[in-house]
Order: sequence, then C-alpha cells, then structure tokens
Amino acid sequence: MSFEIFKTSSIGFCFGVRRAVNALYDTVAKGHGRKIYTLGSIIHNAAINTDLQKRGVRIVDSVDEISPGSTVFIRTHGVGADVYARLSAAADADIVDMTCPKVKRIHSIAQSTDNLIVAGDAAHPEVIGIVGNAAGFYRVVKDENELRDFLSVDFDPHLKYVFVAQTTFNVERFMFMRSITDEYDNIEAVNTVCTATSERQKQVDILAREVDAMLIVGDPGSSNTRKLYEIASKYCEAYLISSAGELPKNLKKYKKIGLSAGASAPDEMIEEVIINMMNENDEKVLTEDDIDFAAAIDASMKIIRNGQRVTGVVTGINNTEVQIDLGAKHSGFIPKEEFDADEEPVKVGDEVEAIVVKVNDSEGVVQLSKSRIDAIKGFETLSQAKETGEICTGKVMQVVKGGLIVSVNRTRVFVPASQAALTRNADLNAMVGSEVRLRIIEAEMKGRNSRIIGSIRSVLKEEKEAKAKAVRESLEVGKKFTGTVKSLTNFGAFVDIGGVDGLVHVTDLAWGKVKNPADVVSVGDVVEVEVKSFDPETGKISLVYKKQEDNPWNILSAKYSVGDIIDSKVLKIMPYGAFVSVIPGIDGLVHISQIADRRIDKVSDVLTAGQTIKAKIINIDYDNKKVSLSVKDASDDIDDAEQDNGGSEPEAE
Ligand code: F3S
Repeated sequence: MSFEIFKTSSIGFCFGVRRAVNALYDTVAKGHGRKIYTLGSIIHNAAINTDLQKRGVRIVDSVDEISPGSTVFIRTHGVGADVYARLSAAADADIVDMTCPKVKRIHSIAQSTDNLIVAGDAAHPEVIGIVGNAAGFYRVVKDENELRDFLSVDFDPHLKYVFVAQTTFNVERFMFMRSITDEYDNIEAVNTVCTATSERQKQVDILAREVDAMLIVGDPGSSNTRKLYEIASKYCEAYLISSAGELPKNLKKYKKIGLSAGASAPDEMIEEVIINMMNENDEKVLTEDDIDFAAAIDASMKIIRNGQRVTGVVTGINNTEVQIDLGAKHSGFIPKEEFDADEEPVKVGDEVEAIVVKVNDSEGVVQLSKSRIDAIKGFETLSQAKETGEICTGKVMQVVKGGLIVSVNRTRVFVPASQAALTRNADLNAMVGSEVRLRIIEAEMKGRNSRIIGSIRSVLKEEKEAKAKAVRESLEVGKKFTGTVKSLTNFGAFVDIGGVDGLVHVTDLAWGKVKNPADVVSVGDVVEVEVKSFDPETGKISLVYKKQEDNPWNILSAKYSVGDIIDSKVLKIMPYGAFVSVIPGIDGLVHISQIADRRIDKVSDVLTAGQTIKAKIINIDYDNKKVSLSVKDASDDIDDAEQDNGGSEPEAE
C-alpha cells in the first residue's frame, strides 16, 4: 500500500529565521578573517548549530565571552538596550543585528512607552530583549490570570499603558486578554503576534483533521515546533522528527500523511524527509541529484483542484486567453483581460503564478485566475506590512462612503475618513489622485475577500511627533522660528512652530498696549517668533512676536535727545500733570509745574485732552522707561528763538 503526502504551504524557515541564517552563512562564506560570534544560538536547530560551529562560528551566551575585533550576530529574538550598548562599546565589534523586524517593532513600541505590559514568557530571550528596551515600567503576564492580578493590584488608572505580545504568543489567548484590557481606556493593545506562527498553526490544525498521521519536522527544543506537534496530536497520530533518520518505520500503514515543519527547520531537512518518505513509498528511488524536487513534491500531492495556487509557463497567447503549461495532465488558460495593461506584456516562456478557478477533467483544461493571485499576493504583502508596521505608498483612487480607496501595489485599501488626515474635517475629494503614505492597520481574509484597512493619519501623526520632538530638542532662548498662528485668546496667541505650540503673551505681541491680540495677528498668519523661555518639564513654550527693531525706546534714542522740542498730543489729564504722546508706543508726562510760567490750579485750566502742543523733552529715564516734558520750557525756547531771529533782521525803514 502506498500513501499520499500532504504538505502545508507554510513550512520551514519563517522569513525572520531565513534572513538571519542566510546572513550568517554568507558572512561565514566570505571569510573576512574576523572571529564570528552569535549571541545565543541563531536558530533552534542542533544540526545547523553544529554545522555552524564546525565552520568556526562561536555561540556564546554573554558579551563578556566576545573578543575584540569580532563580528557579532544578534539573533532574531533581539536583545535589550543594555546588551546592545555593551556590544557597541566593545572594541572594534562589528554588529550584525538580525533581530526580526517584527520583534524590532515591539522594541520601538517599548522604547516609546512609559508603561508596558507584555503577554509572554518572562524567561524567553525575546521577552527579555523586549523588556530590556522598555523606557519605563513594564510587566510580563503569561496569561489572563496574571493580567487580571496586575489590573487589580498594581495597575494605576491615571497612567497610560501599551499592551503587546511576544511574537510567538498564542494569538487566540492574546485576543482574549486584549478583550479584558478593552475595558480600560488607558490601555492601548497592539497585536504583535507573528502571523507566520499563527498561520502555520492554523494550517496544521486543518490538515491534521484530514490525514491519518502528521509528521512535524524540527528541533524538539524549538517551542513553535513543539506547538505544531501538540496541535497535530489532537487529531491524528503525530510524530516530531528532527531528521529523515527519525522517520517512523510503519508509514505504509497510513493512507494520507500530513507534513509540516517548525520555523527553524531548513528546506534541505524537509526535502530529505520527503525524499525518504517517497523511497519508503516504493516509488522510484530518488536522490537529490536526479529529481526536480518541487515537481516531485507536487507529483506526490493530489491532482490540481479548485482554489489551488499553481505556477506554469506561458505556451501561447491569443486574443482572448493566455495558455499555460502546468506540467500536469491538464493545460491551463487565463483570460487575457486579467493581465494588467500597465504591466510589461506577458510573453511565451514567461512563468506565471495563478489560482485554479475551475477544473474541467473531461476536456483536460483548467481555468486559472491571475487577478486572484495578484489579490492574494497583494494581501500577503500588506499583511506583512501590517505586521512590521512598514509604511506603504499608494494612490488615492476615489472617495467612497465613510472614507477613501487607496491603491497600494494594485491592491485596494480602505482608509476610513477618520484615518485620512490629521484633522477630521479634511477635504477628501481634494485628495483624489494624490500619492499618500499610509500604514496598514487591519488585514483580514474573509472567504475569498480581503478586508484591508489603512491609516494615513498614523503616518502623519508619527511624522508630526518626530518633527515636534526635533523642535523641542532644538529649543534655545532667543532662537527664531517661523510659525503659524493657530488660535487667539484674550491673553495672547498660540503659534505652531513645527508640531509644537508656543504662547505669545499679549504683552509680547507688540511694544505698545494691545487690547485685543486680533488687532495684531490673525489665525493662519505665518509669523516669525523668538523663544522667550521654555520649561522642559511642563513643555510650556513662551514666544515673542514683537521685534527689537520696533522697540520704541530704541527709536526714541535714535530720533530725539533731551532738549528737543516736539509736537505732541495731550492724551490724558491728571491732577498732577498731563500725559502726552512722544512717539508711538511711548507716552511722557508734563508735570503741572512744567505747564506754564505762572502757578496754575488745575491742569485742565490750560490743557485739554486731544490738543496738540509743543513740549520740550527735559529728561529720558531709559531704566524706568519714563520721559518728562515741559511746555513752559518749550515756549521759552521758542520765544528766545523768535527774539534772536527778530534782532538779526534789518529794520524795515
Ligand atoms: Fe519568524 Fe520573525 Fe515571526 S523570526 S516567527 S517571522 S517574529
């Protein structure tokens, strides 16, 4: 009896592990003469670790064991900020940071959060690395019970918390724990569970129900591999093997055997297992040298079926369809209109990926869809972007009910109106046709339809915060900024100087008395302001709008001196004298004793508000900002001058 082998599509190295292992082998191959260390095993796979050690790679647990002038690999789990700092300080250390981008994303959340809650195993290296990057308080909770304990004992309702998960945490459990935190407005939960893990678990869960036995390939020391084995064991006989040599002897008793592998199982190991299974199956004895491995695996699997993802080669093109050789007894075709006119035209010999839409056994043809695979690939790319938090670029296609449709790599992304801009009342129609940067915040497959939601606001907010941070860090008293007036109050104007608002107090708007800030500036005005003071603790910034060159005391000093006679308007009558205008922004006092040569009882007997008089500047007190004037002296000086002029003129007769 022979058996069929069914393999999960998600199998072996995840992208993070593949990236790290490839980089390490590349570095070893280049052999640049430096000693190569990995801080902890780069992968949970004894065979690979032994191979690496044979090639001279040293696996160490501590920075202290690394000699100067070495190349040091940080594995996908990442490390805490202290370890990174120690490595950077180590003499001439060449650091190759292979922390998985998905773990890096958690590090950056931890670095920008004052209070962090992590769902995970506190002793796991990834979690140790995450909390080692925490900017402030952190708490690791392994399950909902520990989370509830924390919420009822140590939780401070006045603080803001961010709740994340170890990437390999069980996604259902995290969602349940997240539903508990949903009741707290001050906890923001971010799903950081890696879909590479959950997707693989889901596939094993489905496949194990359909087969008689499951083989899980991987190292027993790898937690994600053990998890796959546990899932498979629930539905059928399951075997965890770390090499082809551990294949069970009695495989022929099964009709259908499922195969999957943990994230640390290399392709070669999986291939070796499949080859051995095929040999066991009394088929032609194959070796790695004489088989097209991919074709052999496909041949061992079921015939082409609806919904299957296939790759074929273009054999012909006519007006209506593109014919595809699938390397099977059926030939395939894709309707011509499914090829995007904007792409390079397809040619005979090109390799094309597609989804099987309909198998017609009697005619031996298979209808394929390229647009569906494009949609799936688009979904996969955007799901990945969601996991890593990567910023995507897209074009706004149209305004729809509730938001925008943005095309990102030819995949439709819905952006709710609330996520389309920084402000809620943005003109969405004006955005049509523009290129935007956005972050994917939801990517979900519902049947054949994908639901992808993006946020432009998240990118704009982040950019604004980064700009604001840079502005705050560059603040110095006296530094000038160009800003925009954002709002006016009766005590001054708030000015945005680059994502940060500062206050220009009413006394700093102009040199003279300002009754209403709106008399000087309006909302939306672009103004140049100078930093008067700032408080790094409270973040309060005081700005000055009035300019030194407009300082009336400087103007006064340049224009007038003591002894000058000026034309001046009487502004206010007081019992002890009269206030008169000197220049705009400076008023002076004519004391009652300086109004006339004779004694006067009341100022108003001689002067009236609004009257223009000649007055002589008799004192300028720059320190106390006071000007004294005399009408009496001015009048005497004018009389003297007239007499002088009269005496020098010739007699009329
Ligand atoms: Fe792998 Fe990175 Fe996920 S290392 S399991 S892709 S978090």
